[in-house]
Amino acid sequence: MNSGVTFGRLAEEIAREAGEMLLAKRPARPEVLVTKSSPTDIVTALDQASEELIRARIKAARPDDAILGEEGGSTGGGRVRWIVDPIDGTVNFLYGVPEWAVSIAVEVDGEVVAGVVNVVPRGEIFTAVRGEGAWLAGERLRCNTGVPLDRALIATGFGYESRRRAVQAEVLAHVLPRVRDIRRGGSAASDLCSVAAGRVDGYYERGPQYWDYGAGGLIAAEAGARVGGLNGKPCNPGLTLCAAPGLFEELHDLLVPLDPERDG
Ligand code: IPD
Repeated sequence: MNSGVTFGRLAEEIAREAGEMLLAKRPARPEVLVTKSSPTDIVTALDQASEELIRARIKAARPDDAILGEEGGSTGGGRVRWIVDPIDGTVNFLYGVPEWAVSIAVEVDGEVVAGVVNVVPRGEIFTAVRGEGAWLAGERLRCNTGVPLDRALIATGFGYESRRRAVQAEVLAHVLPRVRDIRRGGSAASDLCSVAAGRVDGYYERGPQYWDYGAGGLIAAEAGARVGGLNGKPCNPGLTLCAAPGLFEELHDLLVPLDPERDG
């Protein structure tokens, strides 16, 4: 069997269990445990508990694999690496906005072969295996195609630092008049799945980390979207861009002269 399928099943089982734990334990307004780069970057105790659960399950099933997690950093070595975001959309989680996700990707020799994004409050588990398509509730996903930029519904997001946000606002001021409309969902992983499911036509954002886009990027790509950075680079924290071929290039060419990475 394709090893991506095996990894995907395990990732799905683990993401489901983490989601159930989070739903069961999430109080009306979870206690703010620590703040990272600014007061709006909220990390809750449950964020850490979710990553601990995910790490424990991976270690029990695959003791020799490496893990990169948003909260716990990098551990282990070897050809297989798990990329974990225990809660993507922590601000939504905190406020009870039903758009946050557990995201798990599995890499073999540096290539993501399986990805799972569990958008827990909606009970939606998006999955993809490289070469085997992207799926939601038994339905194969296909992104929207043939949408020109001026008809495109585009998702985006903003970082936590005010200097970065100021640049993101300037960029957005140029993008907004040229597209159908903008959506800011609050979870990069879910945004990428929304491209896969045709709920938006494209997505771009400066700043998402590998754990934000690892699984969602594969899901969008397996649904037919192009996923990358600027100027031929792969997706990277500088910029994540995702849309069907055609719209991808139009959005790319709109963004490049705006220099969205200029906040350093
Ligand atoms: C954030 C979300 C948000 C995006 C931010 C990310 P977090 O992740 O994905 O949509 O705009 O750039 O940092 O902090 O909730 O895991």
